[in-house]
Amino acid sequence: HHVDWDETAAEKSGYKHFMLKEIMEEPEAIESALVGRITMEGPLLNELKEFNVENVEKIKLVACGTSYHAGLVFKYFLEKYVSVDVEVDVASEFRYRNIHIDKKTLVIAISQSGETADTLESVRLVKKDGAKIVSIANVVGSTITRESDVTIFMNAGPEIGVAATKTFVNQLVVLYILGMYILKSKNIWNEELEKDFQFLKKSPNVFRKILTTINLDEVSSYYKNYHHFMYIGRGINYPTALEGALKLKEISYINATAYPAGELKHGPIALLDPTFPVFAIVPKDKLFEKTKNNIEESRARKSRIIAVTNESNKELEGVADDIIYVPDSPDDMYPLTISPIIQLFAYQIADKRGYDPDKPRNLAKSVTVE
Ligand code: G6P
Repeated sequence: HHVDWDETAAEKSGYKHFMLKEIMEEPEAIESALVGRITMEGPLLNELKEFNVENVEKIKLVACGTSYHAGLVFKYFLEKYVSVDVEVDVASEFRYRNIHIDKKTLVIAISQSGETADTLESVRLVKKDGAKIVSIANVVGSTITRESDVTIFMNAGPEIGVAATKTFVNQLVVLYILGMYILKSKNIWNEELEKDFQFLKKSPNVFRKILTTINLDEVSSYYKNYHHFMYIGRGINYPTALEGALKLKEISYINATAYPAGELKHGPIALLDPTFPVFAIVPKDKLFEKTKNNIEESRARKSRIIAVTNESNKELEGVADDIIYVPDSPDDMYPLTISPIIQLFAYQIADKRGYDPDKPRNLAKSVTVE
């Protein structure tokens, strides 16, 4: 079959790359993830009706790459509201540990493709212990959907770009719903959770606003020639730092490393100098002052600072060199509203460095080897 240029361009709906197209599709992707799951009575996951999630005391999440980062956000979110132990592990480690699963433990495997070898092997391993497995997947009919007891689909539609974008966003959405559903089942609900829930409902429009107004052209041109980046964040925004660094590494081949901001002084701060910028994910939440201190420590080493924060927070002006604003959101929801920023930043840098972000070297969309 001969695919000519026009046909390929049509598939990309006029966008230069699939990655950009897929980022721009995020509002509709979120809408599809929310269908049937936002009800008058609250969050609903019909898939889990038989699972008695009210009895769950421990949760083990297993995933790779971007999916692993989504799992970490879930851990911070759920543990804030209930004393359920949530452990997240990368599948290539999980499967070689000595894991014991009891009746009060829920195993959740996250895989966009549903074909990642290490994630599948992890599922097979715990199945031998009689564990019930919930998978969160995007590809209908994929292996993981057949090998787990139930699948919660993320409904993001096909993702062609190798680096996950809209599927990361949809993983977050589905995991927030799952967390809320578990909390509701355990009779835990409060004003903050209600605000989170209401925010999820309107998040497609929040994303529309972000994606139509954000312009990272100047900032990405400025930063594209650096060889290193230090991503920092705290609490629920730490996984976003990990994901931001991963995106940059994957498609722009810049050495990006991510740390919880409080760990900087335990070693990595030794790296900082004018050649090593810090990318801080720092909305105005309970931990803001602490991360702001870490930004000031980094500035003292003459690192250039690029920060992402919320639009009503002006406290970084004069502190960070470049500030990217996102709409004010409930504290728990910043991983969601900040995700398109870290994705677009990596995309723009890769494109400006002359790389094709859809086909990063050495990487595959789904890793079916161990
Ligand atoms: C590959 C892809 C990543 C993805 C990871 C896990 O490494 O390049 O973008 O996050 O696999 O994929 P999965 O399909 O299991 O979510």
